[in-house]
Amino acid sequence: MKIKLQQAILLSLATLSLGAQAQQAANLQAKIAMCIGCHGIPGYQASFPEIHKVPKISGQGERYIANALQAYAKGERKHPTMRGIAQSLSEQDIKDIAAYYAQQVKITAPETVPAPSQDVAKLFERGACASCHGTNFSKPLDPSYPKLGGQHADYLYVALKAYHTEGNPVVGRGNAIMGAQVKQFKPAELKQMAQYLASLDGELKTVPQSSTR
Ligand code: HEC
Ligand code: HEC
Repeated sequence: MKIKLQQAILLSLATLSLGAQAQQAANLQAKIAMCIGCHGIPGYQASFPEIHKVPKISGQGERYIANALQAYAKGERKHPTMRGIAQSLSEQDIKDIAAYYAQQVKITAPETVPAPSQDVAKLFERGACASCHGTNFSKPLDPSYPKLGGQHADYLYVALKAYHTEGNPVVGRGNAIMGAQVKQFKPAELKQMAQYLASLDGELKTVPQSSTR
């Protein structure tokens, strides 16, 4: 009798936690539904502050995704659309979403990547970019640094310029490390670096998803 009661309690606890898990999964799916209209369409273009493809976020580092979302929410990254979206997320949503996108694809970038032209190599040396982003630009030294290899060139260029921008209410990124980095380069040089990074095999992807699943 006693054993039966224990079994019944265990069973109902298991059902309860399954229910909670299903609830959590449904909640995550509802949040992801807000993202896929842009990040779930390969090649999808944004027009602000200039036309560029929205960044690939699947396979990006979990810590970096969470940090980026927090930076938008706080206004350290000013981009108005991403800011509004990030502000609608709770701390827990951000954790869950970052884990979801980080694990959505598992691609391993090659250890060594083709070298850039001599001129472009000099730019990368000047900024010691590989010392933080990795020699193949997919192995960041710290999990809060982004993977760059294979990211869209036009997005990387817009991102680099944003670290440059000061005193604009809707454009700019406050990260001090990258702010100091980009100031030593002309826009044309930032573009050359962006193009090289985009040409590499990396670990990032846009995973096609439709909202009507
Ligand atoms: C209306 C289109 C749109 C929607 C919807 C959208 N994003 Fe974005 N997202 C963008 C654009 C454009 C950028 C680049 C912003 C910038 O220049 O800083 C971006 C940037 C990001 C970044 C930074 C990427 C990086 O490499 O630094 C993350 C992370 C991100 N979005 C996650 C999300 C998540 C999670 C959602 C859903 C909760 C979402 N986005 C919804 C358009 C969108
Ligand atoms: C001391 C470490 C360090 C160095 C050196 C460094 N970076 Fe970064 N980089 C970072 C960090 C940290 C971030 C994330 C900043 C943020 O959260 O906005 C970042 C972000 C970026 C981004 C934005 C990526 C995205 O998805 O939005 C690009 C592009 C980039 N770095 C390129 C470069 C280039 C090119 C160089 C060399 C000129 C360089 N970095 C040097 C640490 C570094």
